[in-house]
Amino acid sequence: MLKAPEFSSATAADSATTQPAALFDYTGTHHAVWRVLFERRMPALEATVTQVFLDGLATIGLSSAAIPQLDALNARLTPRTGWRAVPTPGFMPAAAFFASLARREFPTVRSVRTPQQLDYVEAPDIFHDVFGHVPLHADPAFASFLARVGALGALLRSGANDDDPRITELARLFWFTVEFGLVHEAGGTRIYGSGLISSHADAANALSDACERRPFALDAVLAQPFDVDRLQDVLFVVSDFRELDEAVAALERRWA
Ligand SMILES: [Fe+2]
Repeated sequence: MLKAPEFSSATAADSATTQPAALFDYTGTHHAVWRVLFERRMPALEATVTQVFLDGLATIGLSSAAIPQLDALNARLTPRTGWRAVPTPGFMPAAAFFASLARREFPTVRSVRTPQQLDYVEAPDIFHDVFGHVPLHADPAFASFLARVGALGALLRSGANDDDPRITELARLFWFTVEFGLVHEAGGTRIYGSGLISSHADAANALSDACERRPFALDAVLAQPFDVDRLQDVLFVVSDFRELDEAVAALERRWA
């Protein structure tokens, strides 16, 4: 289970996304944790995740063998959609986070959880950020949606009004799509949110009777609070990824 999104509401200056992606030094233990996480998730994902994720995984070349270096991953990803995974040391202020997304640069934590944290990690690690998020960035439609969400977030944050209710609304859209989104696919409900892809417990909950799965409706999502400290009891299902584009386009018009 992941406890929190990548960004915080802090307003301190941040320039993490401009760091060069120097090689990160992983130990055998780090690679072993990645391998265990990868090999535990894949059998369940084959039957529960969107095909877009499985295609993206192959496109960017992720495997259980080793934690990827970002440069190698980007060499396969960037020519396809313009997206890059860029290193960040941890939580980012929301303004910097969304501005980075608008540039098609996904802030990525490169550290990996410890063997004691296989099932629960408070902050994103590379398994959440790279395995959970980055494969979808190889899909042109999702890539466009995420960059447009970033541009909207950067625009809102440039107003520097923390009381603007649209900031909360955009955080909800991000949470219920990018992190915990569900999609109708192959005659059933499939997961595409990174918090579900990277966590067996969250995914199992999302597809169980404990979670109410509602058809995606933009205004319902913007009005739906979420709690990062517990399993989700309400999630939203898009009929296809075009709904994401339509949602972000509607917000662009509404907030212009
Ligand atoms: Fe995430």
